[in-house]
Amino acid sequence: MTAKDTLSIPHASRNSGLFDWAQMLSGAALIMFMWAHLLLVASVLISTDIMNTIAEFFEKTYMAQVGGPMIGMLMIFHFVIAARKMPFSGRELLTFWRHAKMMKHKDTWLWLIQVISALIVLVFATIHMWFVLTDLPITAAKSAARVRELLPFYVVLLPMIELHVAIGFYRIGVKWGLIGKKSRKFFQRFEFLMSVAFITIGSFTLAELYVLGSI
Ligand code: HEM
Repeated sequence: MTAKDTLSIPHASRNSGLFDWAQMLSGAALIMFMWAHLLLVASVLISTDIMNTIAEFFEKTYMAQVGGPMIGMLMIFHFVIAARKMPFSGRELLTFWRHAKMMKHKDTWLWLIQVISALIVLVFATIHMWFVLTDLPITAAKSAARVRELLPFYVVLLPMIELHVAIGFYRIGVKWGLIGKKSRKFFQRFEFLMSVAFITIGSFTLAELYVLGSI
């Protein structure tokens, strides 16, 4: 490694500690939102009436009209804070790539997946929220028509967000000392199974909405 490859590392400061807390708390809130979102949309697997009743509840209580844009803002806030550590320039990317190959550590590669999925989710989820929230009320029929029309879009968004959520959950544990060296393997497997479980539930939901959209 040459001196050129090393990037300047800023000193630890009170602000960087506060940013780390804000990143963790906003990330944890978004993880909980995504788990709830996955299960609520999956209610269509039981019946369209249940999905419609849940959607009606969220509109009557203004959670969709007010809570929806708040989730959008929280997502942008989380991205802006996390972006301070992301490699954006060609030089940063090259240095990251060299270091990752040199360290041969699984967590470094997981972080790379976290960065790539973050960029995709930011764009796709913003478009998705715009479509849903500018076309209220939410109904199973409208969702079915949307999924039928935009299936490839959801086929990309679903694995990207579930990977991002599962790796984010694992990284919070490692970074804040809840997952130690000995339990890393166990939690990596847990995080993998979590992604598979959520992608499976989401895929069944998409399949059901796609079929409903053809009726
Ligand atoms: C905050 C407001 C949000 C609302 C009201 C909402 C609502 C919905 C609805 C009604 C569907 C069914 C398909 C459709 O109507 O288009 C859906 C599907 C989906 N949404 Fe959202 N969504 C929101 C935010 C998000 C965010 C932030 C993400 C990802 C970061 C996301 C990811 C997905 C995915 C992957 C699906 C496919 C089905 C599934 O896996 O459950 N949504 N959403």
